[in-house]
Amino acid sequence: MARRKIIAGNWKMNKTPSEAVALVNELKPLVANEDVDVVFCVPAIDIIPAMIAAKDSNICIGAENMYFEESGAYTGEISPNMLVDAGVKYVVLGHSERREYFAETDETVNKKVLKAFEHGITPIICCGETLTQRKQGIYLDWIRMQIKIAFQNVTADQAKTAVIAYEPIWAIGTGETATSDQAEEVCGAIRACIAEVYDEATAEAIRIQYGGSVNAGNAAELFAKPDIDGGLVGGASLKADFGKIVNYNK
Ligand code: 13P
Repeated sequence: MARRKIIAGNWKMNKTPSEAVALVNELKPLVANEDVDVVFCVPAIDIIPAMIAAKDSNICIGAENMYFEESGAYTGEISPNMLVDAGVKYVVLGHSERREYFAETDETVNKKVLKAFEHGITPIICCGETLTQRKQGIYLDWIRMQIKIAFQNVTADQAKTAVIAYEPIWAIGTGETATSDQAEEVCGAIRACIAEVYDEATAEAIRIQYGGSVNAGNAAELFAKPDIDGGLVGGASLKADFGKIVNYNK
């Protein structure tokens, strides 16, 4: 069975609530594509206004992070049940920027992944290597380790519904995209790793995105690769170009 493509925007720390509404309204007619799941992962404060603006469209609103506790004395954090109550279906977990600036580790990512599943939220689990790791030739080992830790205690049924985003750190926000062959090599290795941890059926079902300087010019070639099931898009998700990325197959 062919996997359905999933193309998600990661707005990062951009757009005030009123700007978020304007952007959703601008993009709404441009991202209609019945062949693709379309997700806008937005700052926490933008979730509700974006959700209201996206009503009656194919846009699903997601979050960019989530804490792994239910409630309590965790000033500044957002809990899974807050996201569920707001209608959120997807959450980005373990983005390299969160690992670099906010001390996110493979272990905290795993705790968050388990919590997201417990609450019926689909995690978009990020992994990826630095340029040094690529040059050292250890990038596949590194990514396999990130994946194996992120999926500790996750059942096969849960894993089948997960989304993994392969985002080489050297390609994020740099304008330097991985070639489609480089991206396919790693996405294929991630799928093989899932087959090893679980089984072939789980590996066939799980969706693996590529992220890192995806734009209207390179999306079609990347998404044509057999193990690349869509993209996680930063900068280009904040402009009309995102419509072209979502409609890469038209
Ligand atoms: P860019 O598309 O801006 O390179 O960002 C990629 C990314 O980090 C998406 O999560």
